[in-house]
Order: sequence, then structure tokens, then C-alpha cells
Amino acid sequence: MCGIVGYTGPRQASRILVEGLKRLEYRGYDSAGIAVRRDEPLGDGEAPLSVIKRIGKIAELRQAVPKDLPGTCGIGHTRWATHGGVTDANAHPHVDGSGRIAIVHNGIIENSAALKEMLEKEGARFASETDSEVIAHLVAYYYDGDLEAALKAALGHLRGTYGIAAIHADEPGRIVGARNGSPLVVGVGDGEMLLASDVTALLAHTASVVYLNDGEVVSMTPAEFRISDGDDRAVDPKIDTITWKLDAIEKEGFSSYMEKEIFEQPESIDRALSGRMNQEYGSAKLGGLNLSKKELHAIERVRVIAAGTSWHAGLVGCQLLESVARLPAQAELASELRYRNPVVEPNSLYLAVSQSGETADTLYAMREIQRRGGSVLGVCNVVGSTIARESDGGVYVHSGPEIAVASTKAFTSQLAAFYLMTLSLARLHDMSHHEGQRFLAELRAIPEAVRASLAQRDAIQAIAKRYARYRDFLFLGRGILYPIALEGALKLKEISYIHAEGYASGEIKHGPIALVSPETPSVFLVSNDHLREKTISNIREIKARGGPVIALAQEGDDEVAGLADEFIPVPTVGSRFQPFVMVPPLQLLSYFCALELGRNVDQPRNLAKSVTVE
Ligand code: G6P
Repeated sequence: MCGIVGYTGPRQASRILVEGLKRLEYRGYDSAGIAVRRDEPLGDGEAPLSVIKRIGKIAELRQAVPKDLPGTCGIGHTRWATHGGVTDANAHPHVDGSGRIAIVHNGIIENSAALKEMLEKEGARFASETDSEVIAHLVAYYYDGDLEAALKAALGHLRGTYGIAAIHADEPGRIVGARNGSPLVVGVGDGEMLLASDVTALLAHTASVVYLNDGEVVSMTPAEFRISDGDDRAVDPKIDTITWKLDAIEKEGFSSYMEKEIFEQPESIDRALSGRMNQEYGSAKLGGLNLSKKELHAIERVRVIAAGTSWHAGLVGCQLLESVARLPAQAELASELRYRNPVVEPNSLYLAVSQSGETADTLYAMREIQRRGGSVLGVCNVVGSTIARESDGGVYVHSGPEIAVASTKAFTSQLAAFYLMTLSLARLHDMSHHEGQRFLAELRAIPEAVRASLAQRDAIQAIAKRYARYRDFLFLGRGILYPIALEGALKLKEISYIHAEGYASGEIKHGPIALVSPETPSVFLVSNDHLREKTISNIREIKARGGPVIALAQEGDDEVAGLADEFIPVPTVGSRFQPFVMVPPLQLLSYFCALELGRNVDQPRNLAKSVTVE
């Protein structure tokens, strides 16, 4: 949600900033801008900072930035609006009254109204409706020749969350940044320094990064950077090396990131599993959990906290943990948990599941649990993300960078992590060695089964062509396929803007069946276990009311194929592994419906990849 990039070094800053923003576009894309310090000498009437802002995508900004824009130090921002509409004026960077200070900000300043009133009394004139602009004026208010000192003084008045980068016309080559609840990473280059909200903006320039912690301030020039904490003490920086490669964030011949990421799933699931399966013991090993066998034994229940697609992965995981590892397990929406005064029971294992590791709802819920003495393990994709760092241990799902806003490969990698966790916990309880080995054999076959499920691509595209213009859809499943129905509906909503409801298929007769008509298709996920017959009865109920049915069921299920208007066969896997083979066809169905309707699948309207505000 919103992206920040900063550059100082020998090269032309504007190019690097615009390219960095392009990499960050998935974090917010309603408007964007850059501010570059003009190198001396200035011509008559020339502003010391060149500030260029545009609503729309980064392509609009790129067009507006002169190719030869001088200046080797600057900051940039891509916005996902919170306060104030999508206008050029509301886009960042924001400048103070003198035009000598520019800032970009991610997060929300909760007391901006009071600060604005105070600053206006002091003579400040505001040019935007944003909460962020107060930062520029507040820094100007305190500025006395030292940007770092002025920013620190300003921070003392800010309530809320922020990742901030600032420059001053009088301080050549200097960028100052501050973090509280919104990520910032320093990129340490050779004779140049970068600052970004996300490592994807840095990858093209350096693999050496330093993650800032909340309360820290960084001041950088091309040659050096220093970090200080909230008490103004110098912080010894820990330099990490990013292992993601640049080509992992390229489209590599696919027409969109989402398509690429859907088709990467056989490999990404394989990565999530690799090195973690122990055939000899019929078990799994997840090193990052930091729990001894004894501590694992003491776990009496599992609670998952997550949002969006990650919550759906948690719902699948909890069904598995309960049915296979025989542990009571519940997945909760992080945004709900935090505010309902939760009881944190001893011997509970809390799992914060988040692809980005930055989702504010999940992060705050995690802190609430920790405050009450609970320990929380993270299940994250982004290495070094806030949840990964603040959790008490955890698992990386290793799906590689996920750029499309709608989550696909991270979801199936999260599932893989849950299957491994279930196995390792089950083996501490009732599961036999032999059963464990069988579970592993099934898990090992999943990447190939997923590949086979993706082979339905053309058939699914043809179905999407026939159905994309329906306005409402139902997605229905039972048992472990119920969360997959929720995920199928979410994907369709997110990228095609078609209204879709996910329901437990046993529940339709308690309300949603009233929606069924020839105008409302139902997508059924038919399992290959004891629930199959029940689901088939539900299909008949829909058909009896004239509702079109698209059914996904195991290949060779002629009965379902005969009943449904459209049949999507999925590869044969054990019933508890069916989420893996059902979800890729649903991703493709949404994807092709969205394409059919001319939507931007990678950057759907109103959404952001990682939502760092509540
Ligand atoms: C946003 C994204 C969703 C994602 C959710 C949780 O809403 O648009 O695709 O599932 O955040 O994100 P996380 O990074 O915590 O998994």
C-alpha cells in the first residue's frame, strides 16, 4: 500500500526513481510523483527541487518526467489514496511553503487535522487534502540547517503510522527516512544509497539491504548511512543479502504477472516443500519454528490470524490440523480478533499468516496476542518483513516475489506450509510412521498434479468466454473445499469485479438459493470423498431451479460431468489434498473472465497488494 523509493549517488536520480516506482506499482497505483534536487547552479527563477506528480499509472508519470531532468538525489512515491481523492495535488511528494523540503509518506497520520490547524496558525499554506502534507510543513517549522534533526523533532508530534523519506534543497545528496509501522529498507550500493518501502525497488541496484525497525531514523548520502533509534542512539546496522533475483520480478514472456504466477505454482509449491520432508521418519521439519519436540507436544490448540487470501489458507490449514493432527484449530480474521478482547489461552500456537508480512491488521493482531503473553509464529513469504521479524519464529513459504495484487502462488505455498506443519504435529500424536510416509508421498506428488490441473487452461478460457458477462456467481464447496470456494469467489471479485459469493454448499438452502436463477451461475467444487454425494444433491437443487452449473470434480467423474453445464476435470489426488488441484482452475477462471471484460488483472481497481493501514 503506497510505495516509497529514494536515490542518492552519481547517477541521474529521476530514471532510477521512476523505474523503482514501476517495481512498486503493485503496492498502490492511483497516482505517483518524484522530487529531485536540482544540481547547482540554478537558473533565474528555477525551483531548487523539481517536483513532478501525476494521477494514474507510473506510465503517466514517466511521460511527464523530462528525459534529461538534472539531479542525482531524489525521492518518489506511488499512492493508494487514504486521505483525500486521487488528484495531482494529493499525489506525493509534498513540499513545504518554501519549496525547499519534499517528503513522501506511507501510512496514516491520525492527528493531522490538529497539526494542520496549528501549522496554519503559524502561516503554513496547504496545497492538498492529504494527512501527509503536514509532515512537510512540520519539518519546515523545525528546520534549522539540519534535515535529520528537523525530521526527528517533527516525528515527536506525529500520531499514527509512517514510512517517510525527505530531502532538502540545501543539503545536497542527503535523504532522511523514518519508520513507524510502515516498512523502509536501505539499499547499500557502491558509492550510492537507496531507500525503499520494499526490496523489489532495490533489486536492480543492490542485494545488500538494511531493514529499519520501528522508531528508527536513517540519514544517508552516497558514501554512507547512519541509523539512530527513538532515543537518538546510533544503531549498529545489520546488512542482509536479498536472495531474490531480478528475473523473478519480470514477466518473463507472460502477458501479466498474475498469469506468470499462476503457472509458476508447480515450482513454487515444490520450493515450499523442498528440504522439509523427511521420508525416513515419515515426518516434516520446519526449522524456523524454533520449537523443541517438547514444546510442540505441549501445543493444545492452534489459532490462525490472517486477512484475505491468507485467511483462506488458514481455514484450510485449520481443517487439516483438526482432522489429521487432531488439534482444535481456528482461523480468525485479524481485523476482528484485535478489537474483540481475545482470551489468549496457554499452550496455544498462534500463527500469523501473511504473504507480504506487512498487513497492518495481521501485524496489530499479532502484537495484541504477544502483549497478552501469547507467542506467535509467522507464516510469511517476504523475507525480512515486519511480521517475519517480530514473530517468535516461523516459516517462510518461499513462493518468490508475488507481484500481481491478487494472491495466487503465495496461497498454494501457504497451503504447502500448513500440510507440512500438520504432518509434523500429527506425527507427534496419533499418526503412524507408515501413515506419515503415505502423507508425504501424496504431498510430493502435488507439484505435478498442479501442473496437470493447469493444463485445463484452454478449456477454462472457453468457459470464461461464455460466462464472463454474468453479473453474479455462487462458489460452493464442502469440508476442506469450502475455504477454496471462498477463495474462488474472492479471486473473481478482486480482478473481474463480478459479484461472487462463496458458501458452504450445505448452507445454500438456508438463504443463498433465493439468488439462483438462469442468470446466476454456481461453481461447484465436488470432492472425491464422503461429501461427494451431498454435493451432488446440492447440484441437483440448483439445476432444478434453472441455475447454470460449472462443476470441478475429479477426472472421470461422469455423473458430475453429466449433470453440470460445464465440467472442469481435476487430477486425481487424495481427498485432503484436493485444495491444491481445485484452486488453480478457479484462479484461471477468474483470470480469463477478467481478461474477457478488459480488466487490468495485475492492478485491479481500489486494491493494493499489501495493506499497511487498518
Ligand atoms: C490485500 C490483498 C489480498 C491479500 C490480503 C492479505 O487485501 O489485496 O490479495 O490476500 O491483503 O495480504 P497478506 O500479505 O497479509 O497475505
